[in-house]
Amino acid sequence: MFKTNGYISCHVEFEITGGSLQNLIQHQDKVVKDMNFSNRYNNLPSYLFAGLEKKAAQMRAQGIDLIDLGIGDPDLLPPNFFIESMRRHLNDPDTHLYPTSQGDPQVRQKIGRWFLGRFGVDLNPDEEICVTIGAKEGLANFSRLIVNPGDKVAVPDPAYPVYAQGGAILNDAVPVKLPLNPENGFIPDIAPAGECKLLYLNYPNNPTGAEAPAGFFSEVANFIESHPGTTVVHDAAYSEMTFGGYRSPSLLQFTRKAVEFHSMSKLFNATGFRVGFVVGDSRLIKGFAALKAQLDSGVPVFIQRAMADGLDMYDGGKPPEEVQANLQEYAQRRNLVEDRLDKLDWEVLKSRATFYVWAKVGEDEAATIDGALRKGVILTPGSGFGISGKGYVRLALCQPLARIEEAMDRLSESA
Ligand SMILES: Cc1ncc(COP(=O)(O)O)c(C=O)c1O
Repeated sequence: MFKTNGYISCHVEFEITGGSLQNLIQHQDKVVKDMNFSNRYNNLPSYLFAGLEKKAAQMRAQGIDLIDLGIGDPDLLPPNFFIESMRRHLNDPDTHLYPTSQGDPQVRQKIGRWFLGRFGVDLNPDEEICVTIGAKEGLANFSRLIVNPGDKVAVPDPAYPVYAQGGAILNDAVPVKLPLNPENGFIPDIAPAGECKLLYLNYPNNPTGAEAPAGFFSEVANFIESHPGTTVVHDAAYSEMTFGGYRSPSLLQFTRKAVEFHSMSKLFNATGFRVGFVVGDSRLIKGFAALKAQLDSGVPVFIQRAMADGLDMYDGGKPPEEVQANLQEYAQRRNLVEDRLDKLDWEVLKSRATFYVWAKVGEDEAATIDGALRKGVILTPGSGFGISGKGYVRLALCQPLARIEEAMDRLSESA
């Protein structure tokens, strides 16, 4: 951090997962801290890897071809049915009006139908479902329903940075880190969350790709029974990005006393359309919808309706063909990368979910990141996701197979 005349130049950690590398670099200038800004804003941690991005930008400016395996933004297009439905609903007579805070009632009906088909959990659309502006908005804003200044918020480490920053620091609360590592199978010991107001969980997991093993959600359900002062938030943004016959469970199959966030971003390759939903405990959902009424005006109804039509195309939890084809493509990419990194002796966490590959590369990942960049491949440093990510890199499989293969060839070249 560089401090001068009351201005602190700083780059926030959560930018690591959002937007393109270019946006990230441009954003650095905007994330300037100022004595007049709130403490909660100024308390956001500094971004450790500004140097890496600067170097990548310089290389690009020199015309060097970089293969970006850093950003988790799908390169594949949204399914036609999703886009077509959106076009159709643009002509709806109410599409220009303010959406309702909780989401269109018919959309919530269809979400409920999908949830029942997919997880066997029957939700009341009026009380247990709320549409969100993607998962990120909901994950961050939900904390404002629960967390007071000085409270503790339990977050996995490494993790999607929004939990610690949006969920804790921006509420003047204190993140309590629950380490994920090979020793615990990347599943946290949740006991310390007993002292926390909020506990964030995320399976299938970003950045590690880990799946929740049978038994973990039962343990969480028991924890909720014995710790009524801790609200549990499950981020299921990747629940539909699974391969090889694996179906990721919902926490709501084990307890209804929690909330779970779902997103269309990865399901329909639709990160830019900003739509998802939260389901769970009716008291929490009603509170959250009332909170949202003070913060935003919801998702445009034509986008909500495209989500609902898309979910309606599922057959008892079985995705429509276009979605299946996308998943096959991601599975192929994952198989290729896991295989090639094995040959490089990188310790890879084998997974049947997400488009992230998490690999241990040594005590400090900086040299690997730097070496990869010199070979024209951008990787994400594990410690950008928390201290327990040190020594790891994350590869996002959001490039065509041929480009990923080329990236693997480049990484295999001797330095
Ligand atoms: C674990 C996790 N949760 C939530 C999100 C955000 O999802 P959305 O695009 O729905 O806001 C991401 C995006 O990368 C993520 O990795």
